[in-house]
Amino acid sequence: MKFTAKAAISAAALSIAGAAYAEPQAEVLHWWTAGGEAKAVAVLQQEFSDQGGTWTDMPVAGGGGDAAMTALRARVLSGNAPTAVQLKGPAIQEWYEEGVLADISSVAEEQGWADVLPAQIAEHMKCEGSWCAAPVNVHRVDWIWANKSVLEDNGIEMPTTWDEFNAAAEKLQAAGVIPLAHGGQSWQDATVFETVVLGLGGPEFFQKALVDLDQDALTSDTMVQVFDQMRTLRGFVDDNFSGRDWNLATAMVMNGEAAFQIMGDWAKGEFLAAGKVPGEDFLCASTPGDGFLYNVDSFAMFEVDGDDKTAGQNLLAELIVGPNFQKVFNLNKGSIPVRTDVSLDEFDECAVKSSEDMNAAADSGALLPSYAHGMALRGAQSGAITDVVTAHFNSDMSSEDAVQMLSDAVANSM
Ligand code: BGC
Repeated sequence: MKFTAKAAISAAALSIAGAAYAEPQAEVLHWWTAGGEAKAVAVLQQEFSDQGGTWTDMPVAGGGGDAAMTALRARVLSGNAPTAVQLKGPAIQEWYEEGVLADISSVAEEQGWADVLPAQIAEHMKCEGSWCAAPVNVHRVDWIWANKSVLEDNGIEMPTTWDEFNAAAEKLQAAGVIPLAHGGQSWQDATVFETVVLGLGGPEFFQKALVDLDQDALTSDTMVQVFDQMRTLRGFVDDNFSGRDWNLATAMVMNGEAAFQIMGDWAKGEFLAAGKVPGEDFLCASTPGDGFLYNVDSFAMFEVDGDDKTAGQNLLAELIVGPNFQKVFNLNKGSIPVRTDVSLDEFDECAVKSSEDMNAAADSGALLPSYAHGMALRGAQSGAITDVVTAHFNSDMSSEDAVQMLSDAVANSM
């Protein structure tokens, strides 16, 4: 109640200051179309309309956002950008450099974002010192999800090393269970790959290989071992994996057809939307190894004409970082609030683990941006890596050849 009234007053104040009496309008491009995702974005839609806003929804199906980014480019090129866009990582700065992003510093300053956001994450939201995106959450990428009763029925504990994972998977396979639910889409291959890079190489290696693009790391024996493990994982996936959406893979774990899925915690949003309970129906554990791969969803506002649209952008930015939205949205989405002052009392054990692990990783220098989810690299570089990961996963390419191809692809993308 208290928050709603405050938001209404400041939304009105913003409208008066920036755009006299305009009614907030927003066309919002996002890729949240799976069950848990849709429930989560509905929270924002509701808050926006409660404040008098008119929301025009532009959902672009396709996990990971590849299709959404193609749609965005087409809209911007035709001179008709959406008002607000789900955009993250260095893509924010890439769009800023094209001169098409709106400055939302007035909202950020009025709402004191600098005081409630972790500094490392706030940096992603800035373009040459001004605020150019509003952060929604912190998703963790390096998770394994498991069907609890499938593990119990087969006498398997949640694995804590990759060797344990492989041994568990072999046992499950022998018992006729699909060990690893996976969808053969390049971003899903990349998601698994980066957890293996972190797990086998450790945080420092991850930083060198997938953030700094250090050629020694890319061509190292460790990277050969990473591709070996990817080949092993390929053997744990069923024959029908090609093109499968990530949420259908999550459903395979839910219904006991498969035991595990390696996926960010948007998968937890799917379990929850289906009424499944963590610790009872499904289990969460970080993928083997140290570190924390973060993936922060955020919205950037595109320069558009019209006071009503500016009012809509300002209202959206304010609501997104507001404490009520941060709580309710993230309870549905599977992620944790990005604000440091939101209580986790109502969050489940996986979210609490995520928050504790994130703080510990921040202290030890192991809090790392996800390459697979566009937090670490610009599009040309991350695309070059993902092409190699997918080419290897879908062929009988040797690990040595994959490493050579990776090194060349990265060098050519610079
Ligand atoms: C986004 C998540 C989304 C997932 C699957 C990730 O890149 O950060 O918000 O749920 O893709 O679509």
